[in-house]
Amino acid sequence: MQENIHEKIEELRSQFQQSINGALDLEALEKLRIKFLGKKGEVTALMRTVGRLPAEERPLFGKLLNEFKNAAEEMLESRKKQLKEKDASLRWEKERLDMTLPGKPFQLGRKHPLTLISEEIEEIFSCMGFQIVEGPEVELDYYNFEALNMPKEHPARDMQDSFYINSEVLLRTHTSPMQIRAMEAMAPRLPVRIICPGKVFRRDDDMTHSPMFHQVEGLVVDKGITMADLKGILLLFTREMFGEGRELRFRPSFFPFTEPSAEVDISCIICGGSGCRTCGGTGWLEILGSGMVHPRVLEVSGYNPEEVTGFAFGMGIERIAMLKYGIEDIRLFYQNDLRMLQQY
Ligand code: DAH
Repeated sequence: MQENIHEKIEELRSQFQQSINGALDLEALEKLRIKFLGKKGEVTALMRTVGRLPAEERPLFGKLLNEFKNAAEEMLESRKKQLKEKDASLRWEKERLDMTLPGKPFQLGRKHPLTLISEEIEEIFSCMGFQIVEGPEVELDYYNFEALNMPKEHPARDMQDSFYINSEVLLRTHTSPMQIRAMEAMAPRLPVRIICPGKVFRRDDDMTHSPMFHQVEGLVVDKGITMADLKGILLLFTREMFGEGRELRFRPSFFPFTEPSAEVDISCIICGGSGCRTCGGTGWLEILGSGMVHPRVLEVSGYNPEEVTGFAFGMGIERIAMLKYGIEDIRLFYQNDLRMLQQY
């Protein structure tokens, strides 16, 4: 009978040995564990037969079965470790990075040409001690026109076809309202020295006009400011922006908020002044409007025109960019065509 016990256990052991060698992955190994050591497994089944044995054989049977169980558990554990290592190294093989493969190409974003020009303008004026301010694009009629010396029915309002929201509110047609807002915020402190870049809106749409475009306003107010200061600042700006050797020409003009007023031309950046298609043969390109701040504008903003003077200027950023980059159609700035944008 005792031999029978040994045989039974031996058979179980060899069965187990075969199975474990055939278990090639963790899943098969787990099935094996359940089959032999699980609650309804072989060991449990044998354990149940113990009652049928003669009493004196039971302890030996139990002992052998337990020994087998422990040995089997150990073997399962070490096989599991083995398989896990194999698994990991297989995965490593599969996922190993080949550093020699070419990378996936991707497109790098870049700044819009108008952003580049704005930043350049801001940089130049910052270096001259100007503060950069921003104002609302939806503006009161008061700031856009009234305080700039353009009362209702003033003919100069027709110079700019406006988008009105209601009778008091409109999309600003220029950045000049920021002259008033800046002075109101500063008064009575001196000096006022600001530039204000931003979007402006007009009912215009062709090769050189867009219903939305960008301007930079400049304003300096202090004791003893003269037109010579205006000329000096603008000349410095021009030469920083377009290169040494550029000349400026001031032409008498009219703006309700400046007196005297001037339109400013630079010597043509294409032909240098001899005359070409870009400058229409004149040798000059108009780049901005400017003038000495009108006494009434100073007054409504909280400064005494008897004590202080100022100059102001306003230029179109698209215009500067078109000249600098040789772009002929303003609409190219807004079409988001990568072939265009990638060039800057
Ligand atoms: N705001 C004017 C326009 O949009 C430009 C301008 C002219 C601004 C003269 C000024 C200035 O500050 O002094 O046409």
